[in-house]
Amino acid sequence: MCGIVGYIGSKPAREIIINGLKRLEYRGYDSAGLALSNGETKIFKCKGRVQDLEEMVSKTSFNGSMGMGHTRWATHGEPNELNAHPQASVKGKFIVVHNGIIENYATLKKHLEGRGVIFSSQTDTEVLANLMEHLYIEGDLSAEQAISMALNRVEGAYGLVIICSEEPDKLYAAKKGSPLVIGVGEGENFIASDATPIVEYTQRVIYLNDDDLAIIKKDELILKTLRTEQKTPEVREIDLKIGEIDKEGFTHFMLKEIFEQPRAIHDTFRGRVLPDHSGIMLGGLHDVLEIMSQSERIILIACGTSWHAGLIGEYLFEEYTRIPVEVEYASEFRYRNPIIRKGDIVLAISQSGETADTLAAVKLAREKGAKVIGICNVVGSSIPRETDAGVYTHAGPEIGVASTKAFTTQVTVLAMMAFEIGHLRGIVSDQLYKSMITELVSIPGKIEKALGVNDQALELAKVFQERQNALYLGRGYLFPVALEGALKLKEISYIHAEGYPAAEMKHGPIALIDENMPVVVVATKDDTYEKIINNIQEIKARKGKVIAIVTEGDEIISKMADYVLPVPETIPALSALLAVIPLQLLSYHIAVLRGCNVDQPRNLAKSVTVE
Ligand code: G6P
Repeated sequence: MCGIVGYIGSKPAREIIINGLKRLEYRGYDSAGLALSNGETKIFKCKGRVQDLEEMVSKTSFNGSMGMGHTRWATHGEPNELNAHPQASVKGKFIVVHNGIIENYATLKKHLEGRGVIFSSQTDTEVLANLMEHLYIEGDLSAEQAISMALNRVEGAYGLVIICSEEPDKLYAAKKGSPLVIGVGEGENFIASDATPIVEYTQRVIYLNDDDLAIIKKDELILKTLRTEQKTPEVREIDLKIGEIDKEGFTHFMLKEIFEQPRAIHDTFRGRVLPDHSGIMLGGLHDVLEIMSQSERIILIACGTSWHAGLIGEYLFEEYTRIPVEVEYASEFRYRNPIIRKGDIVLAISQSGETADTLAAVKLAREKGAKVIGICNVVGSSIPRETDAGVYTHAGPEIGVASTKAFTTQVTVLAMMAFEIGHLRGIVSDQLYKSMITELVSIPGKIEKALGVNDQALELAKVFQERQNALYLGRGYLFPVALEGALKLKEISYIHAEGYPAAEMKHGPIALIDENMPVVVVATKDDTYEKIINNIQEIKARKGKVIAIVTEGDEIISKMADYVLPVPETIPALSALLAVIPLQLLSYHIAVLRGCNVDQPRNLAKSVTVE
């Protein structure tokens, strides 16, 4: 993970880098640092957040017109000042910020130690800086040659920005596996892990590819491969507005993103649903839709919340397309020699488009001959660039580490795909197809209503904020919602929570139920409604405290449960989009009441670019 920002131009680099790092803190936030150069290069770093770094550098007047910064999510070495980036080589000739893992760092380190290098940190990055310096001095190479040669020797993943202290007019940037984007300005250039630190200065960007090496001056940009072949940079215009990455009056990004869901889902289907609701057009699937509709198996791969969306995808695809579906954790899929047959479709779901395990699983699936389709949010990220086709969710930047609008927009895309393919296969009739599209179009308005439980969720949070455990139950489409509700609670409030299929409760979790155990039952009306009423009775018989998510107007469960949070009625296939809203709000308020850092929970990161 980790976030990287670099700047070269005529403006004071310090402020640009600090502001940029604040935008990238979702990528990691256990230590931060920056290097500034005005001929002389100085490094500042500290344990803690970017704000701590800002306070530290505000005590000096040192600035520069070139620099680079880093916000870290520790992999090698505990989060402290020594292990924070930038990491410099022993003689100070190479200064490096790095996102990723150098897998053969131990071998390289031993080799360099044998040649007298004394390391001061536990990081793999310091090894890289010293390898460059070693090649530069001992091999009498230019900085560019030393960098290329060093990178040809390393195994692993990296997004790197490098300063050679003897070349104070340029930044070097290189990428393999971890994302880097260059912002092209007038007399200035930027480099960052994603476009969010760049968009307030320029909308013109270049996405680096694996094995690219960029040499960035303030008014010149040279792009090469690591084998020093010259490349022509492909400059793209991005459409990302600065307002989209501000809190806009909300106390946290997570709350803003929860409340943004009606708009986000509307953006997901906007332009993809015919005005008379008679059809869905997913432009990104134009060339593969026929192949998808004839596929013999669909394998969904994802991690975290996106995997929960994938589970809902399984229910949707099997119900409406009758194509067999498997849902896999990307990390498991890639390491167990999966069987991919001709005619299989692999669907990768990822908000960031950068999750290392999902990206590696995508590459593996393609190598094995599968058609690979992506569902991603971040435009231009690595997964959409590695897949055969795909659909963007258009949720807008999601900054809160706990995913909310990414989840509901992913489910929206999966529903559109399932309805469309089901219709193409003749399983979904014209009438059903049209009625489901009409229902989908009504979802933003219904979420708006579901958000009306915010005050009730806060009151409930006050009751349950001190609990140490919680159980979440659901059936059918609502089982993945239970998993997602439990994940939200544990991620941001550090309360242990488990999601379970409601019927499985009697095979274990029922033993945990007593008067102290909050049990959140996702029980909106669908085919399993009667069954879940029985499950609620079983909990009540054991004195569990039931918080039920119900369909508006439900009188039966309202009488049985201790607390209810109602959502509007919809069809079962879309019920997750509404039922998840109260669960997001409940975990948000509990975390706030417990004094947790909602947007940046401990140990987590938004974009997990290490495996
Ligand atoms: C991290 C994030 C989660 C996210 C998961 C997968 O763990 O904290 O919110 O669901 O990665 O991320 P992706 O970007 O692939 O959806």
